[in-house]
Amino acid sequence: RVTVRVALIGCGTVGTEVARLLLTNADELTARVGDEVRLVGIAERSTEAERDPVIPRELLTTDWQGLVARSDVVIELIGGVEPARTMILGAMAAGASVVTANKELLGKDGPTLYAAAEAAGVDLYYEAAVGGAIPLIRPVRESLAGDRITRVLGIVNGTTNYVLDQMATTGEDLALAVKQAQAHGYAEADPTADVEGFDAAAKAAILASLAFHTRVSTADVHREGITAVTAEDVAWAAETGHVLKLLAVAERLPGDAGVVARVHPALVPLAHPLAGVRGAFNAVFVEAEAAGPLMFYGQGAGGVPTASAVLGDVMTIARHRVQGGRGPAESRYADLPVLPMAQA
Ligand code: HSE
Repeated sequence: RVTVRVALIGCGTVGTEVARLLLTNADELTARVGDEVRLVGIAERSTEAERDPVIPRELLTTDWQGLVARSDVVIELIGGVEPARTMILGAMAAGASVVTANKELLGKDGPTLYAAAEAAGVDLYYEAAVGGAIPLIRPVRESLAGDRITRVLGIVNGTTNYVLDQMATTGEDLALAVKQAQAHGYAEADPTADVEGFDAAAKAAILASLAFHTRVSTADVHREGITAVTAEDVAWAAETGHVLKLLAVAERLPGDAGVVARVHPALVPLAHPLAGVRGAFNAVFVEAEAAGPLMFYGQGAGGVPTASAVLGDVMTIARHRVQGGRGPAESRYADLPVLPMAQA
């Protein structure tokens, strides 16, 4: 009897909800897969820190290597480049498939993770890295793999959307609205990544790489955050029939000249569907030659919604472990050059 042993590395806002769902729904998940799906351990920096009572203390360990060695699926939710990269590569080398929500690492060094997964013959899934609960990575990576995507455009950072929305509806200033976003569990540990546009740039890089079958890293993305946006700017936008949104845009240029990706605040006309995206919701338009325009919408941040996307990836891998099969490898057929904004 195969048991799918699941390990969790990192037990913050998202990790706690992932653990809660795995523990609460264990019987149902097991029934769906046809074999036992079991959370076997949670690696954290300290086993003493105060935690949600749903986390059984006996599952906690500081020995991530020992935990990985007895796992089939490793969920990495600590974020940041290191030590997350070492842990993911270690898990793959030990034969475990990996689920991660780590946009920073994927945006900076995705090809290294893909190569390691390929070498180890394991799966790498990251639906939760972009758009929180919204199924977006899988459609772009798999459902549209036979089409030709020309543009990806949307709101991919829940914190800044919440902040701009709060400023527009209450007249509050940026700092206060950021504090509220943090209190809701939307913001990154350091909200600089949100307000300066680094988080959105990483997500734009991930989406552009998948959409255009080429390698776009976060450093290739032209980036401007929302720190310079004032209450006056927000009020002026409203007076002129607009709303300010932080947009991520990735385009394949005509004639295969290359791709460009950018993140910046933009004036969106009130009649546009993106203008109605409120709070920490995200919305992404994908335009493909055969499919035409598609829109993806839902909760883009927060522990519970993001945990849904993580669990979906765990289930896909669990089915592969039990029934056979592998997830998609990195696609690099087009190899289009990534152009700086000035040349676009
Ligand atoms: N801080 C991120 C956001 C979390 O606000 O969108 C989800 O990636």
